[in-house]
Amino acid sequence: MRQFPNGVSIHPDFDALCSATAGRMITKLVDVQSRRGEATVVLTGGSAGIAVLAAVAAAPARSAVDWQRVNFWWGDERFVAADSPERNARAAWQAMLEPLGVDPMRVHEVPSTEAPGDVEAAAAAYAGELAAVAEAEELAEGFEEIDPRLPRFDVLLLGVGPDAHVASLFPEMAGIRTTDETVVAVRDSPKPPPERVSLTLEAINTAEEVWLVVAGEDKAGAVGLALAGAGPVQVPAAGAQGRAKTRWLVDQAAASQLPERLLESGN
Ligand code: 6PG
Repeated sequence: MRQFPNGVSIHPDFDALCSATAGRMITKLVDVQSRRGEATVVLTGGSAGIAVLAAVAAAPARSAVDWQRVNFWWGDERFVAADSPERNARAAWQAMLEPLGVDPMRVHEVPSTEAPGDVEAAAAAYAGELAAVAEAEELAEGFEEIDPRLPRFDVLLLGVGPDAHVASLFPEMAGIRTTDETVVAVRDSPKPPPERVSLTLEAINTAEEVWLVVAGEDKAGAVGLALAGAGPVQVPAAGAQGRAKTRWLVDQAAASQLPERLLESGN
């Protein structure tokens, strides 16, 4: 693995990327739990996002984390039936949440199509649950709130699409342009299925650390543009920034369009 000042870590291949990210996640959760007693992770969908979860569940060091005291949310979710193979939460339960025996009361899924109402109602309900937990956290822990509408996110995982989308925020579309909201409903996702619920970029960027986990040659252009400082409306991945740290965890193929100067210089 090659690690650079600007938070970019380049791994030889997909498997190495996912197992290294899993190890980094375990270390981070142990650190946060030692300070706060619990930790909050925001999960994502996509092949890399789910493969990291499977790698966590397979990691020998997984037992260092108290999985009964980790809170889980989603950066985005497909508005489909709960048991649909397209559902990010279903994939996460199978890959990691069930094998690790997490506390289901701490797993906050976006409503599925079984819930009353349409995708807008699901987005509103998810925003409401985020705000309710944020309020309870603030009362319980008394720490200064980053945003009163959101719990404190310690690590927020993102995958990146070939078009540089993150979560379900797609270039030039309404979601990436949305401000003053924490959650948006998406009805016309270019990536199927069409209906989704997504955190906004503002909400994503309240996370202490944002980790973008990216593999494959087809993402190299998006990674190159994002790290070259493109605008977030055209290149949503460029806009994802954690409060304390933004990590680009990529494989060699996805890093293939990164100029060496950018890696060494750290900016
Ligand atoms: C989703 C994901 C989406 C995904 C990217 C990358 O629900 O589809 O949240 O943002 O992370 O499209 O997906 P891959 O890693 O499969 O390319």
